[in-house]
Amino acid sequence: MTNQVNDTAMDQIFREARTQNAWLDRPVGDDVLRELYELMKWGPTSANLAPARIVFLRTKAAKERLRPALAPGNVEKTMSAPVTAIVAYDERFFDQAARLFPHYPAMREVFANSAKLAEETAFRNGTLQGAYLILAARALGLDCGPMSGFDNAKVDAEFFPAPDGIDEVNPAGRWRSNFLVNLGHGDPTKLFPRGPRLEFDEACKLL
Ligand SMILES: Cc1cc2nc3c(=O)[nH]c(=O)nc-3n(C[C@H](O)[C@H](O)[C@H](O)COP(=O)(O)O)c2cc1C
Repeated sequence: MTNQVNDTAMDQIFREARTQNAWLDRPVGDDVLRELYELMKWGPTSANLAPARIVFLRTKAAKERLRPALAPGNVEKTMSAPVTAIVAYDERFFDQAARLFPHYPAMREVFANSAKLAEETAFRNGTLQGAYLILAARALGLDCGPMSGFDNAKVDAEFFPAPDGIDEVNPAGRWRSNFLVNLGHGDPTKLFPRGPRLEFDEACKLL
């Protein structure tokens, strides 16, 4: 693959992109959220089964439903963000195998026959897709604020109860929250000082 990503783009997506704690009063339209999904969906997942499901909260009423689940330190930044994405995953992601992995549709049974493998695969790949969402958002000029400081059980009860997303196998609902991502345009005056990163030799081995 020829490298067509220039240094400016790498700055925007990695080196200069910061985790935001406060937001400018600039809306994010539904068209941008659609564009975001149209980019992130191309990131690779196990057997192409794409377990992530995203709920974009972009109205005050929708945000208020999230408020009781948030850790106290995450309330203000989340309630003031133009959009908060709930990055979730579908526990029955493998039901899409015939469509998403047509050259080997029997892949469905591999997961249907092992709850442990299905859960691991959903969580691993759903998390990867959350990372694709962050990088896609940055590529579109949006800022992000990912968060795991919230009560997953409360979010699931509020947003994914039975009979939403239902089936007879899992009557409690089949979507599960993983983490949250605030989206918008960050207020650069409210950033924490940037933390360092591990050096290559600390984080990597060359074998
Ligand atoms: C999965 C995940 C969960 C996080 N949870 C929280 C959180 O609950 N509250 C918060 O204020 N920041 C949270 N953060 C933000 C991190 O602390 C931040 O991304 C990290 O320090 C790097 O900051 P930088 O992008 O500005 O360099 C989370 C980040 C990630 C990726």
